[in-house]
This record gives sequence, C-alpha cells and structure tokens, in this order.
Amino acid sequence: NKRIKIKELLQQEPAEQQVTVMGWVRTFRNNQFIALNDGSTNTNLQVVATLGMFDESLLKRITTSASLKITGTVVPSVGKGQKLEVKADTIEILGDSDAEAYPLQPKKHSLEFLREKAHLRFRTNTFGAVFRVRHALAFAVHRFFNDKGFVYLHTPIVTASDAEGAGEMFRVTTLPFENTPRNEDGSVNFKEDFFGKSTNLTVSGQLEGELGATAFGEIYTFGPTFRAENSNTARHLAEFWMIEPEMAFYDLEDNANLAEEFIKYIIRYVLENNREDLDFLAQRLADEEKQLPQDKRSEMGLIEKLEFVLNNDFQRLSYTEAIDILKESNHNKKKKFQYPVTGWGMDLQSEHERYLVEKHFKKPVILMNYPASIKAFYMRINEDGKTVAAMDILAPGIGEIVGGSQREERLDVLLEKMEKMGIPEEELWWYLDTRRFGTVPHSGFGLGFERMIQFVTGMSNIRDVIAFPRTPKSAEF
Ligand code: 4AD
Ligand code: MG
Repeated sequence: NKRIKIKELLQQEPAEQQVTVMGWVRTFRNNQFIALNDGSTNTNLQVVATLGMFDESLLKRITTSASLKITGTVVPSVGKGQKLEVKADTIEILGDSDAEAYPLQPKKHSLEFLREKAHLRFRTNTFGAVFRVRHALAFAVHRFFNDKGFVYLHTPIVTASDAEGAGEMFRVTTLPFENTPRNEDGSVNFKEDFFGKSTNLTVSGQLEGELGATAFGEIYTFGPTFRAENSNTARHLAEFWMIEPEMAFYDLEDNANLAEEFIKYIIRYVLENNREDLDFLAQRLADEEKQLPQDKRSEMGLIEKLEFVLNNDFQRLSYTEAIDILKESNHNKKKKFQYPVTGWGMDLQSEHERYLVEKHFKKPVILMNYPASIKAFYMRINEDGKTVAAMDILAPGIGEIVGGSQREERLDVLLEKMEKMGIPEEELWWYLDTRRFGTVPHSGFGLGFERMIQFVTGMSNIRDVIAFPRTPKSAEF
C-alpha cells in the first residue's frame, strides 16, 4: 500500500479504498478519533480507531505529536467540515511522544512562546501555513525570473568588500583570539588569516550581480544576507534573504516597472496556489486584531489587501514631493512624529514612510530620486547634480521592502563620488572594470524576502517568518 499525503487524499472523493498515511498526532479524542497531520496541509485527517479493535497498550501510546503509520479504509465522514475520514485497519507507532514532556499543547500558544520553541513551532497551524507560503513565494520568485530569461547568479557569502558602504558587516576570520598576529603598528595582520585579507559576510550580492548583468544582460540573486545592525525591531534580522535582480540597459523607470510587476506576480502566485493557508492566516490576523482598539485595526482583511495591491498601480513620487507632503501634514504640524520633518535632505524614518503609505496614499508607494548624500555610492547622479536615481518601495504595514537604483555607469563620475565618500578604489578594482570595458546603463533592486513574507502572511514580527531568526543577542537554534 503506497503512502498518500493528507493534502492529496482530502482532495479526493470518498470512494472506498485502502490507503496508508503517516504523520504526527495533533489530538486523540475519546480513545477513538485521531487528528493526524503530515505537514502537507493544516487540515488534519480524521482517523477512526474503532472501539475494541485495538489493544489498550497501543492506544495509550497515541499521544500528542507521536508519529504514526496508519493503513485503513477511506469512508465518507459523518462529521461536518470534512467529506472523508479513514477507518484504521492497522496502526503502527513510529515514534512515541511523552505528552507530559512535549512543550506544545493542543491549545493556542502565543507567538512569543513559540519563538522560544522555534525547533518545534513548525508543528503548529500558524507556522505550517507561514512556511508553506514562504516556500511558494520562493518558488514564484524563481519562476518569475526564469520565465523572463534572467540567469540565477550565485554570489559569494564571504566577501572582501562592503557593497553598501555602511560598515555593518560580520567579520569572517580564523585568527585566534589570543595572540592575534599584529602588524608593527598594532593593527591585526590579516595576511596571516585564511584568505590573506580581511573578509566579511556579504551585506548584498549587488556588486557581483552587476558583473553578471554586464555579461548576461539580466541576472538575479536570491540568497542569505547579513547585517550587523543593532536594530532590535520587528523588521530587522541579522541574517535575512534578499532577491537582487540586476539588468543591463534598464533605466530607473524600467527598474520600477519590473519591481512592481515582480511583486504583483509573486502575490498573485500565492493567492492562486496557497489559498487554504492564506485564508487560515487571514482568519488568524482577524482574530488577533479583534483584541486591538477599533482605530488600530486594519481597514482591510488580509486577502482583500493582497487583491487590492494586485488591482491598483503603486503610487510613484519623488523624494522631494514626499518631503513636501510630510512637512505639510497635520501629523507633522501637531508634532506627532518622533523625528520632526525638518526639510529637504533629511533621511526618512520608518514612521515617515509608514505615514505616506498607510495614512496618505493608502497603497504601496515607489519613492524616487533621493538626495545623493543619504544613499549608497553606486547610485547614478541625476541631471540636477544633487539627487540620485534611487527608488525605495514602501508597503503598508511594513515600510521599506525594496531598495534599488539605476547605477552610476560613468567611470569618471563614479570615481569622483567614491573618493568623496571615502570608498577605497583599490578594493573595488574589479567592480570598476565593468565601467572600463563596455559600460552600459543598468539598474537593479533588492527585495527583502522576509519583509515580503510579512506583507503576504500578515505576521507582524519578522522573527516569525524565518525558520531560525538571528537577531542581536539571539541565535539559539
Ligand atoms: O535597501 P537595501 O540596503 O539595498 C541593498 O542592499 C541594495 N544593494 C539592493 C540592490 O539594489 N541590489 O536592502 C534591500 C532590502 C530592503 O529594502 C529591506 O527590504 C531588506 O533588504 N533589508 C532587510 N530585511 C531584514 N532585515 C534587515 N536587517 C534588512 N536590511 C535590509
Ligand atoms: Mg534601503
């Protein structure tokens, strides 16, 4: 008897047939009804162990989270909700589970509690749904770019350069703590280190991505990214996943168009393919919001919000226009921002970004053309000489989900800028070669994968959309 996954079985008509299912016990009621889950869906399969058919010693071992192999007959279900159930012929205990010691109860646990039990939380409905959706989004990312002819480029995790020039890198070293080799001036001698130089975990694959784009035309990366930002927020991880497409011959507008199309594509993909999990997450969110005061609740449900995003253009505006809106807003005048909006040139805080998307436009926003002074060295200078062809995409409830730009392809302009910003030319000689040998206008962006998952699943803390979150003072699992 071949094993069938519960998701597949539940899609069938309840024609009488023998099946084998395997999974973990969620609940066992009245010494008779087993709710079995195998991770393929949140819907448990009801298995009936007919009274008197099985030894008491076996029934005792059917405890929460024990693993079972069951062979039985499919019959129409008399209970409501499900159209079929399985009448067990044989039950085999694959692995016992001590119900007293098992940390998860069949009741609802808080997300905070489950974060402490991250090694087991996949076995709950919420995390089952979140991680199946995460998988589907990842698949959709690859499908989107593959269908457009982009090459998936695997950029390095260990690197010698700081792609963002923000100095938030984790050092990679094999040097001993004690007796670290030193230069004469007392600085660490990295010539003695594994790579013979100072190396770090990557903060972005972009610079290597540009090398790929100026050969293949269009590439994307999708991999882990590391930032030693000391931000303990619901939107920051020290290890997160980023998708970074990079395209030759694209200007800023082409870049924004691609980003919008991409985001809509992956949302549409999960709406079409993961409806059961999304409906579950929508209900979870609605229940959670019932605890909040009326004015803190979302205007739209999760599904409605996702459909709204699909059916409406993102709002595009310049940084300059955004500053005007923020400055003139009642919110600013009534001093409701923690950081008052002083004027042109200031960096936007997440409270400002969220005001724009949640209060003012009430839809995703693409902000473009930021002051050069608050953006990375590689962004292309605009005609005005003071702004760069940058774009950030801001999402309701999240804030920034995408950062990107048209790149500075003019060697002389780039060199001058790097010097001004103190970016060492010697370290990026290979990057500068793209501008020396057949340079082209090109653009790209980075989508923070976990922030995207937060948006799609409605999970408010980023720690709940990555399997094993790494944050300041926390790397337990
Ligand atoms: O805006 P960022 O820093 O842009 C870059 O790294 C560019 N090199 C991308 C490119 O043009 N190829 O980061 C891009 C996105 C952010 O918009 C955010 O969604 C996410 O990465 N991100 C984080 N997500 C979780 N935790 C963090 N600490 C993050 N830092 C950035
Ligand atoms: Mg950014």
